[in-house]
Amino acid sequence: MKSLMMQGTRILATGSAVPDSSLSNDEISKIVETSDDWIVTRTGIKERRLLTGHNKSVIDLAVVASLNALDKISMNPAEIDLIILATSTPNDLFGSASQVQAQIKAFNAVAFDLTAACSGFVLAMVTASQFIRNGTYKNILVIGADVLSKWVDWSDRSTCILFGDGAGAMILQSSIKEDNQLLGFQLNTDGNQSNCLSLVYKEEINSHPILKLHKGYFKYIVMNGKEVYKFAVSQVPLSILKCLNSLNISINDIDWLLLHQANHRILKAVADKLSIDNEKIIMNLNKYGNTSAASIPLAFDEALSQGKFAHNDIIVISGFGAGLTWGTIIVQWKL
Ligand code: COA
Repeated sequence: MKSLMMQGTRILATGSAVPDSSLSNDEISKIVETSDDWIVTRTGIKERRLLTGHNKSVIDLAVVASLNALDKISMNPAEIDLIILATSTPNDLFGSASQVQAQIKAFNAVAFDLTAACSGFVLAMVTASQFIRNGTYKNILVIGADVLSKWVDWSDRSTCILFGDGAGAMILQSSIKEDNQLLGFQLNTDGNQSNCLSLVYKEEINSHPILKLHKGYFKYIVMNGKEVYKFAVSQVPLSILKCLNSLNISINDIDWLLLHQANHRILKAVADKLSIDNEKIIMNLNKYGNTSAASIPLAFDEALSQGKFAHNDIIVISGFGAGLTWGTIIVQWKL
């Protein structure tokens, strides 16, 4: 019988995966009219990783990141009850999570995809924690993985410079309430601004002569960079404040600010608006660019492996992006 007690959630392990192939700003400037100086000044990005090779997909990265997390704690994949794969670039529109489940041999796990672009990992973590809190599942593998390089218009210099491919994974486990690490969350959506950043399905003009059905296709990422920038620097601090206030945590208590790795100017502007010391910003976007749903778990895994998090540290995690969607999770690290 499932317990109806509200369980705590612990982060047991993290893992990550990036493709071997990298593309520097100098190399991009041979493809579109741009420069290393322009890209670094406006975004902080120096290079990004691209998933090259025939038949390689988001599943390959998600599998490596998941096995990496499982290996760190020598966990048998059969112990995983649920897999949530946050991705906007699935290999199969019916879902890619089941293929990850099969490849990592997590045969007892239910698996599904969750699509919320760059907020995907935050939403997946919150979704997972609900299954844990209500006692339904014990061990949940949350993955953020994207291969936006497959959906970027490589002739559009305003978008192709920004994105990269990667995957990050986190294993969550139910715990006694005293060991809970996920203190709270705050989530938002504004569909009225969905056209600021989208990868929409476009229908052909000609319909089927008998059925009158219009077939179509997905094309490229389209973005209004200025509007997305304004949205992020105005809404993300508000989400963080609401979340902190609901938990009676003050800005001074924050040890680490781990934002979706979109752009160094956005990260700094959010920190400055909240009067958070820039030293507390976790940033690795210079190496990977914006990896969408993968960016938060990638940065988390890297910070953890660098030994950044100390016992009881307060880590503020915020995701933001297409939808528009944005949200915050407050983690208290426990050794
Ligand atoms: N290299 C050189 N010049 C470029 C360029 C590039 N890669 N991309 C655009 N430009 C040019 C533009 O054509 C424009 O030229 P013009 O003045 O002659 O028309 C000029 O640079 C300024 O363009 P603009 O779009 O106003 O630049 P910006 O200061 O807004 O910076 C972004 C562009 C994309 C870096 C910025 O808007 C941004 O970071 N937005 C947030 C995007 C984001 O993070 N999206 C994902 C969120 S999940």
